[in-house]
Amino acid sequence: MVNTRWAALGVAAALVTACSVGGTQPTKPLFTQAPAPQTGGPSCLLPDVPTVDDGRGDPYFPKDGGPGYDVTHYKLKLKYDPPTDTLTGTATIEATALERLSELHLDFHGMKISKATVGGTLVTPTRIDDSLTVPLPVPVEKDAKLSVQIDYSGVPQSLDEGNAFGTNGFLHTTEGAFAIGEPHSATTWIPVNDHPRDKALYDFELTVPANLAAITNGVRTSETVAGGLKTSTWKVTSPMATYLATLAIGDYRVTEGTHKGLPVINAVHNSIPATTRVDEDIARNGEVLDFLVEKFGPYPFDALGGIVINDDRISFALETQTRPIYGNGFWGATRSNTDVIAHELAHQWFGDSVSVDTWQHIWLNEGFATYAQWMWAEDEGRVTTQQEFDRRYATETSPIWSVPPGCPGRARIFDSSVYNRGAMTLHMLRDKVGDEKFFTILQTWVKQKKDSNATTPQFIALAEEISGQQLDDFFNAWLFGKSRPRI
Ligand code: ARG
Ligand code: ZN
Repeated sequence: MVNTRWAALGVAAALVTACSVGGTQPTKPLFTQAPAPQTGGPSCLLPDVPTVDDGRGDPYFPKDGGPGYDVTHYKLKLKYDPPTDTLTGTATIEATALERLSELHLDFHGMKISKATVGGTLVTPTRIDDSLTVPLPVPVEKDAKLSVQIDYSGVPQSLDEGNAFGTNGFLHTTEGAFAIGEPHSATTWIPVNDHPRDKALYDFELTVPANLAAITNGVRTSETVAGGLKTSTWKVTSPMATYLATLAIGDYRVTEGTHKGLPVINAVHNSIPATTRVDEDIARNGEVLDFLVEKFGPYPFDALGGIVINDDRISFALETQTRPIYGNGFWGATRSNTDVIAHELAHQWFGDSVSVDTWQHIWLNEGFATYAQWMWAEDEGRVTTQQEFDRRYATETSPIWSVPPGCPGRARIFDSSVYNRGAMTLHMLRDKVGDEKFFTILQTWVKQKKDSNATTPQFIALAEEISGQQLDDFFNAWLFGKSRPRI
């Protein structure tokens, strides 16, 4: 199961609670503004507004990202030399000013910057920890277009984020490297505005030793070999959050094909024996996608695939855009696991195309992907969504009842409650509004929010609008309460 791996991780810091209402308001006021009692209630949602100068306004991760500009495009030219673990990169960042600006706050971890220009003019960036400030040669007004180029190189350093999130980022392997991590990872290999609120298009150019595969997000547009090096170019044509950027360089079994016109690239690390079920399961991703399309509507992207790594440091999978990356632990020696594929592919709608506005809304990703996984398992004839619900509901003492999935707190964004109580919330919503309205809600949501960001109050407002029901009490109990809801 996708979820069990979190049990060991969900032990970290105390729950963050506070007494104010989210800054992003639904179309009609759903919640009264009274301060929340500590026992739960929707006012455990924090205002989605900046509390520090150089952040994007995430209440759980206030320093992530930078304010005042919108990156529209990252062009990334990256060369990786595995024997020396050295990455050499040029990032060209196209952005639009959202207000008058005299500097840009980006995020970048480790490595050395050798040169930076803005609109061709040399500038001297400053760095404090992972916060990178790029001064503009002259201040610009709102709507100005900016082109920032940063040359850098060095040995990428991963992020150790402790119990709650583990090791993330660019990780060197025996023969290559890969990049994975949520809520953070991209800063270990690219200078970025590191928050899902600033999604952008990407072009990658990857250069690696010719004997290795190099895979990233999106559609591969070229591949050439010269002088012992392989260079490939890739295009991400729908806005992508930074944590969804991935990279895998190494000795992979790569399978290429198409599924209903979509280019498919799957890669399984060659150290994973072909006798496992991995290759067979990954090859079914088109079939899993078709099932999800039937439930959620059109697939939002133009490429498909999966990358299976073999690395003890990573015990999770991640919905990296168009091409999820999977830890090998989901399979083991003999087990088949298409549930994890259903989970990560469902994230392409819920998480990737519709991204969290801030991380406190994480159940919009994990609750929905988990519910999709349950529906897939039911379709496969293994266990019904009702059985999944009943089994968890029956456990009165389960820790999921004390963690509200709608406001889990910073250290618990991947808590089992976010996944399972999140999915149970959807199952109960389905029960309450009926199948037809339930799927209309989901399909309308992904259509309205495609390529953008969303909050829980916005989802509640849509569910109320489509169902014609008043759902405050329902969502308060399921998403924001700290006890087992009555059914
Ligand atoms: N979103 C991932 C999933 O599909 C989980 C990522 C967990 N991240 C981490 N750093 N542990 O479930
Ligand atoms: Zn997930």
